[in-house]
Amino acid sequence: MLLQFAEHTSDSVMTPARISPQRLRQRMEHLGTIGRGDSGGISRPPFSPAHVEAVHLVAQMMHEAGLDPGVDEFGNLIGHGAGEDGPVLLAGSHLDTVPNGGMFDGALGVVAAVEAAQALQEAGRHLRHRLVVIAFADEEGYAFDVGTLSSRALVGEIPRSRFGTLRDRSGQSLEAYLTARAHGLPLARIPERTAAYVELHVEQGPVLERMGRAVAAVESITGILRTTVTFEGRAAHAGTTPMTTRADALVGAAELVMAVRELALQHKDRAVGTVGRLSVHPGATNVIPGRVDLSVEFRSPDERELDDLRVAVEQRSQTIAGQQGLRVTVGSWDRSPPVPMDPGVRDAVVRALQTCGQPALTLLSWAGHDAGVLARYIPAGMIFVASTAGLSHSPQEHTPWEIAAIGTQVLVETLMILDNSNDPTRRLPVAYATR
Ligand code: HGY
Ligand code: MN
Ligand code: MN
Repeated sequence: MLLQFAEHTSDSVMTPARISPQRLRQRMEHLGTIGRGDSGGISRPPFSPAHVEAVHLVAQMMHEAGLDPGVDEFGNLIGHGAGEDGPVLLAGSHLDTVPNGGMFDGALGVVAAVEAAQALQEAGRHLRHRLVVIAFADEEGYAFDVGTLSSRALVGEIPRSRFGTLRDRSGQSLEAYLTARAHGLPLARIPERTAAYVELHVEQGPVLERMGRAVAAVESITGILRTTVTFEGRAAHAGTTPMTTRADALVGAAELVMAVRELALQHKDRAVGTVGRLSVHPGATNVIPGRVDLSVEFRSPDERELDDLRVAVEQRSQTIAGQQGLRVTVGSWDRSPPVPMDPGVRDAVVRALQTCGQPALTLLSWAGHDAGVLARYIPAGMIFVASTAGLSHSPQEHTPWEIAAIGTQVLVETLMILDNSNDPTRRLPVAYATR
């Protein structure tokens, strides 16, 4: 699958803007050393020293690409391209990772957006829209238990009043991290008038590889429903307490883990369900668990399926608690509704695929993305590149470099196509305090 550059770009009289596959790979491999552990996985929680180091590295890349980097009030690294004020084209992804994750999830979209800016600059292509590159601080939601936290904070979906109560495992609040501005970079903002947002991202699933394809446009992003369920029983001596008198919180939790799987399977290929985190208290081998907290997450492109699953889990939790003599609390549900990508941006990606000699293809994303947040306010779209063996959120996460390069060239072509569109720009409801 040879990397086919556009023989002619959208206006063939000008120098084609061609990315450098070598520079892309070199930058990705450098970024991929930051936060890497002995097992080869990458852990870059938002606002951690590893994340700050990554922010500085990408800021340096932005400088090399002719962008002016800064960090906004929500910790998002923003690189402004040159040009007069006015509606901008926004491209990027996120720099945080899941614990022991891969080097492509998020990072590829950020480095590719910088590469796209540099390719356009080197070709002397001055877009009508100023190009702005963004690296969201916290997309994974691992640190504060709120997915796409930084993009949702940016658009005002997470009120500032919550920043002081959102705490990570070290007990540090989001407010404290944002106030500290440990990166030391100047304050930046996204302009309110954003014509479109485009995010290149690894598919994180097996579809493209199974089809023998490298790249696709994203049609829509799945809905995600998350909560924490707590079972409470009676902590007691593991030796002296008869089996028949126990109120073992972990037995209840274990039944719910199996129920989440069973309920999701009932929805066949229209839903998935996961218990990703379970904590046992007090967590001693000779103490019957008195309390267990477990995360419950469902995903579906159909809101009705999500609602069915929510009701079913709440009912099943009560039934299990009754049978096991436990108390159960189902926490508030964090909901990201399913969201279609903007048809205009999706079609621009499809045209860019064809410009790069790739077949037209659109996919559903079962992963959540910052593009899903922005898509609620402005035209947003995504480009997927294949994931080897469909793996992600794993040290084995990989995308062949040739495919990463094709995806990055598709991003360049997409930005040039969007730049020529005359769609009216919409206002992004940026929730900056400083006007
Ligand atoms: O969980 C997700 O879908 C994304 O990787 N944060
Ligand atoms: Mn991601
Ligand atoms: Mn992820």
